[in-house]
Amino acid sequence: MARVGILTGGGDCPGLNAVIRAVVRRGVLEAGDSVVGFRYGWAGAMQGDAVELTLENTKGILPRGGTILGTSRTNPYKEEGGAAKVLEVLDAHGVDALIAVGGEDTLGVARRLFDDGAKVVGVPKTIDNDLNGTDFTFGFHTAVQIATDAIDRLHTTAESHNRVMVVEVMGRHAGWIATYSGMAGGADAILVPERPFDLDDVCRRIQRRHDAGRTFSIIVVSEGAMPQGADGPRAEQEVDAFGHARLGGIAVELERQIEDRTGFESRMTILGHVQRGGTPTAYDRVLATRFGVAALDAVSDAAFGQMVALHAADIVRVPLDEALREPKLLDPTLYETAEVFFG
Ligand code: F6P
Repeated sequence: MARVGILTGGGDCPGLNAVIRAVVRRGVLEAGDSVVGFRYGWAGAMQGDAVELTLENTKGILPRGGTILGTSRTNPYKEEGGAAKVLEVLDAHGVDALIAVGGEDTLGVARRLFDDGAKVVGVPKTIDNDLNGTDFTFGFHTAVQIATDAIDRLHTTAESHNRVMVVEVMGRHAGWIATYSGMAGGADAILVPERPFDLDDVCRRIQRRHDAGRTFSIIVVSEGAMPQGADGPRAEQEVDAFGHARLGGIAVELERQIEDRTGFESRMTILGHVQRGGTPTAYDRVLATRFGVAALDAVSDAAFGQMVALHAADIVRVPLDEALREPKLLDPTLYETAEVFFG
């Protein structure tokens, strides 16, 4: 019987509520635990903004997107005395162990708190799927489905107008969403952060397709993609508490340049946060549920400093350090398979 804390940090993604529900169900019903949720990620853990989580108030949340706890990109190690405040709050709420659900930033804080004496277990989350130590994160599958649906819709309008459609999807460091949705949607080029692109080459491919009688082209681009020779992706100057700049807008530039160079009318769509909203797919609900149950079991086994992870078809435990290595970049073989279908 333990008092378990839980928080969700970083960008939200579909499946977070399924994790919360699974932790509560496993903890309260089977381990005899009580569960307290901290609101808005590390912000709530610093300020003592907490809510008791029960079977009653976590009912019906499995298919709901977002997170009932709220989330933020707060970094306690960037605030004066922030980490000490988190430890005090955990103590004041009688928390024996904390489950932190998040990506590299949230789990990075969890790792440091573990060194500072907190008993933590991590659950990996990011729609970008670029977290090391796990084959997949929940939320990714949903984002890919949303992007694929959008590409399917863009196909018919592109064909009708003989246009080039540029679709920008999320993916800061890695092109997982672009490659999966691009493959599923039959993209004619997929531009990803791992492979700076040559725009002349992209335009040549478009020209070749249209010369051969095709009446449209679809280009899928990750927000973090950049042309060869660029210093970095298109980003705003300002950075968040973890040093990340806001990305986005590469599709605007591509639309203009492709139209100028090929003479074909081009239109861009930036999917943005639509990819993170709404109900999780069945796959993500199941993965998130498995992660939640496994995280509670890790607490029961006192497997602290660990993260639950998917390895092939199994849920395993890996040290938090595994997740904090450099981002998990695209599998080159997957990209080479996608390339077979480029224009
Ligand atoms: O890290 C996940 C992610 O969705 C990235 O793909 C994107 O760059 C970023 O979050 C957007 O963050 P925010 O919701 O803070 O704008």
